[in-house]
Amino acid sequence: MDDWEKYFAEHPAPAHHAVACEEMKAFCQKHVNEKRNIALVTSGGTTVPLERNTVRFVDNFSAGTRGAASTEYFLNHGYAVIFLHRDESIRPFFRHLNSRVLDALQEGPGGLLQLSPAHSAQIRPIWQNYQMVRAEGRLLWLTFTSLSDYLWLLRSATQCLQQHAPKALLYLAAAVSDFYIPQDKIPEHKIQSSSGPHTVTLQIVPKMLSPLVSIWGPELFVVSFKLETDEKKLIEKATGALQKYKHDLVIGNLLHTRREEVTFVTEKSSSLLRLMEHQKAEKIEIEKLIVEEVCNRHRKYIKY
Ligand code: PMT
Repeated sequence: MDDWEKYFAEHPAPAHHAVACEEMKAFCQKHVNEKRNIALVTSGGTTVPLERNTVRFVDNFSAGTRGAASTEYFLNHGYAVIFLHRDESIRPFFRHLNSRVLDALQEGPGGLLQLSPAHSAQIRPIWQNYQMVRAEGRLLWLTFTSLSDYLWLLRSATQCLQQHAPKALLYLAAAVSDFYIPQDKIPEHKIQSSSGPHTVTLQIVPKMLSPLVSIWGPELFVVSFKLETDEKKLIEKATGALQKYKHDLVIGNLLHTRREEVTFVTEKSSSLLRLMEHQKAEKIEIEKLIVEEVCNRHRKYIKY
């Protein structure tokens, strides 16, 4: 048994997994019938529980901004999108209002609250887009919290999309834990501080890109992201991932500059994509440029 098979054997499927699989199947079938391309966008960070009755867990920084913004741009390019996201992470469309909602409201006739004219003008095109996407049933929301929930959904979604290759792509922007605690080492109840210092040994999570590319979705267009904090390591690590897993594209980004620049790395070349000053001034998001480029490359992939 491979390491990744052992991981799935040790971790039961999340609750309602069968329902999520049915939803994905129906969603993919509908959009294949309507001759649409489909993107799976993964977004946000996974958690690794420290207790079975989980009070504490290991988490990471990702808020899901990249995945949520990219989803909107894939939808703009006509794709149907499965948005596989961390529960409570940033969501497409809603992200434009969430944190500002109270500032955007004012009292209208009869004391009813309504959006101020300025906010209304800003929100209207986003709302219209959202309503259109809803009416067309082009966005499927699936949530995860823990690493194991994520991996179960990722595998099922990939297998489902494989039926629709080459018109389906994977855009793996989620920040996935590289470490976990084996099931038999996780205590049932809350770890007590009265017992003194506590040591946890984290095991390495098998790299799921390997079965994903070679077994679950061999004909899909697969884009993974590589996050580093050390600029000197980025290209080397991204190229290493491509050589190892043999997928289509790695988008490298550095923690502190990820909103302004990314590097597209393929086996043959690497190219920097950076927001220009005028684009920053116009508040253009880098995800717009990233998704444009990914769609171009996916189009070529479909033709071959
Ligand atoms: O959410 P934001 O704040 O907007 O941030 C966006 C982002 C920085 C999280 C995103 O742009 C990004 O880089 N996501 C990938 C981060 C990451 O997990 O990198 P990594 O080097 O740990 O993993 C590389 C690839 O291996 C990933 O595509 C991941 O899906 C895959 N992986 C990871 C762990 C694992 N056990 N198996 C895997 O296959």
